[in-house]
Amino acid sequence: MKTAILGAGCVGGGLLHILDESGVAQAARIVEREGSLCTDPRVTHDINEVLRDGGIEAVAEAIGGVGAAYEYVLAALKCGKHVVTANKQLVAERGAELHAAAQKSGAALLFSAACGGGIPFLRELAAAARYDDVLSLGGILNGTANYILDLMQQGGSFEHALAEAQALGYAEADPSADIDGHDTARKCALGCAVAFGELPAQSSILMEGIRYITAEDVRELASRGLCCRLTAYAERREGGLFACVQPELFTLDSAPAAVRQNYNRAWYYLRYGGLFALTGQGAGALPTGGAMARDLCDIMAGTRTMLAQGCRSAAADGDKEYKYYIRVSGEGTEYTARISAREMHRRAKELRGQGKEVFFAALDE
Ligand code: HSE
Repeated sequence: MKTAILGAGCVGGGLLHILDESGVAQAARIVEREGSLCTDPRVTHDINEVLRDGGIEAVAEAIGGVGAAYEYVLAALKCGKHVVTANKQLVAERGAELHAAAQKSGAALLFSAACGGGIPFLRELAAAARYDDVLSLGGILNGTANYILDLMQQGGSFEHALAEAQALGYAEADPSADIDGHDTARKCALGCAVAFGELPAQSSILMEGIRYITAEDVRELASRGLCCRLTAYAERREGGLFACVQPELFTLDSAPAAVRQNYNRAWYYLRYGGLFALTGQGAGALPTGGAMARDLCDIMAGTRTMLAQGCRSAAADGDKEYKYYIRVSGEGTEYTARISAREMHRRAKELRGQGKEVFFAALDE
């Protein structure tokens, strides 16, 4: 299948390398912005060359963001070209609209590379949602945050770990998306769309990142046999959709504690099938480029969508109770009884508004 790669940076470059070596699909053109240093003869700066080329059946979008990426993907779908994308922001913000455009033209829209890096999480989730009810889903979905938390647990500093994650190509262009939870929240939204047919607005997902964790927090938690991971959790109940991203505590002998470096561990829970968990590299050029190649193979095998008919935008307005570890500057640390997640997140914002530094992490026991 002749394919155009949009953006040959970290992930797009990984895909290009894989396609050129494996030949599973032909990387026929590469669309790069003006001024790009890429000297490959397949490079064009004009998306219309791709759109007008009837021999190109698919585009693989790895530009990122929702500017040119949105414009190009929508145009490609309208032309009937299949699309694979690793762009979670694009699908989280414009997924319902792009899905409708794909359905209208009969083109495929696959985005398994947008969540979990190389892990086929969304792919398996989409398959499971066809034969069972997904009751809940979540996990460690950001490689950069996990890399930082893992290195801090071994005594490293937050800043050093972040710089390494950036050098290794794990972090987003703006790493605050990794650290503050936006990236995990987008991936959580994609999971909800695939599993529940509801794409929650980003603003409705409860979100707390790892920006405020300190070496003292890590030591205090370790002294109680606990470690911290940044996790997503979502469930669909009669009371509504609940979706939350927050630091979460696990015992040192648990499966999430064993997730090291840039690895992710994504899970889903089925009414009949019970718990499924998938672990693998959650970020990086080759794992994520490989996931895009996987989606291209699925298109060649006939797959056209990962979303149920009628997937719609929604608000995640449910709630859930957790115990919390909280540290407030000048007030010390506290382990709470079970309290509402909404109330905890609201309280942290209020305290920060009063100039306090706050770190909190959930314990689901
Ligand atoms: N910045 C993301 C991460 C890349 O660290 O997980 C993969 O989605």
